[in-house]
Amino acid sequence: MTNINPQPIKGRLVCWLVPFVFVLSASAALATQEGEAVTSGEYIFHISGCASCHTKDQPLAGGVELETPFGTFISPNISPDNQFGIGSWTDDEFVTAMREGLSPEGEHYFPAFPYTSYANMPTADLLDLKSYIDKQEPVSKATPSHQLSFPFNQRGLLGIWKMLNTGQPWAADANQSKPWNRGSYLVNGPSHCVQCHTPRNLIGGMQGAGMIGNEDGPEGEKVPPLLDLNKSGFGLWNKEDIEFSLAIGMKPDGDFMGGSMSHVLENTTGKMTEEDIQAIAHYLYSLNNP
Ligand code: HEC
Ligand code: HEC
Repeated sequence: MTNINPQPIKGRLVCWLVPFVFVLSASAALATQEGEAVTSGEYIFHISGCASCHTKDQPLAGGVELETPFGTFISPNISPDNQFGIGSWTDDEFVTAMREGLSPEGEHYFPAFPYTSYANMPTADLLDLKSYIDKQEPVSKATPSHQLSFPFNQRGLLGIWKMLNTGQPWAADANQSKPWNRGSYLVNGPSHCVQCHTPRNLIGGMQGAGMIGNEDGPEGEKVPPLLDLNKSGFGLWNKEDIEFSLAIGMKPDGDFMGGSMSHVLENTTGKMTEEDIQAIAHYLYSLNNP
């Protein structure tokens, strides 16, 4: 038997333990980072209203029918299922879909998916959003295809649509305050208020005049203006009226908002921080009271 000197063993143990402890604390730090991304992604998921269109019976499983003048769109499954959802997507594929409206196969998405607003979201936010989606329950269920009339069922033509309807990307206005810019970002970006409150042209693009109301809302209803310089309705609301309506759903006249706005109240503004609601109210009020 060889005589073992305890000193070298201890030395070797330490040598072996140091990287082990290092790996452990590094993976704990990674797990915290991942946890933070998921928490941040959850809030981004809410302010972006993904649930309004992608959750019907099961979270993220799609199947929501969206009726438009071009036919009926049926939202796809975006749960992290590898076969039926987006579980196998890379980060890059997700960011490209959200920002450019292009599928991993390079096909154009229909603008019923409001990626023209999501295009304004920073990459870091989109990646946090993906981390949150990746942590949800995968649903192994296919969704039926859209029911669109010719020529609107031709994805190839959407390349032309994009050329005609891609506006300037959102940018902060250096002459405005931080809350104003946050409100402007939410309305034009993730919370996509512009998408329903702006009139559409014949091929479904948003018209340049801005949020002056839309005769043909997503549920066939009239969408009131959020830009009402004639002061015929919304233009008369004060900031508190706007905040209250977005948090509670009640207008200054005591009526509750309905139609497609009820999904926005439930899934988007109803889950916003007070600060974000105030930012939107500040921005909308200032648009109407220049
Ligand atoms: C107004 C309804 C609407 C909202 C809101 C919406 N989507 Fe969609 N989404 C759709 C429709 C419709 C499609 C299908 C588009 C197509 O087939 O061209 C789609 C497609 C997608 C796709 C592509 C899926 C695939 O299988 O190719 C992804 C990913 C996606 N949405 C993620 C999101 C996320 C994340 C959010 C929230 C930030 C969101 N969507 C919000 C309607 C919506
Ligand atoms: C899916 C379409 C849709 C989206 C997205 C949407 N709205 Fe609406 N909004 C409506 C409809 C429809 C009404 C009318 C509801 C009613 O009167 O019953 C409405 C009404 C309102 C009103 C009441 C205005 C008035 O004069 O009565 C306000 C305020 C409002 N929306 C703010 C917002 C804000 C802020 C956002 C973004 C966070 C937003 N909306 C996103 C469809 C939408």
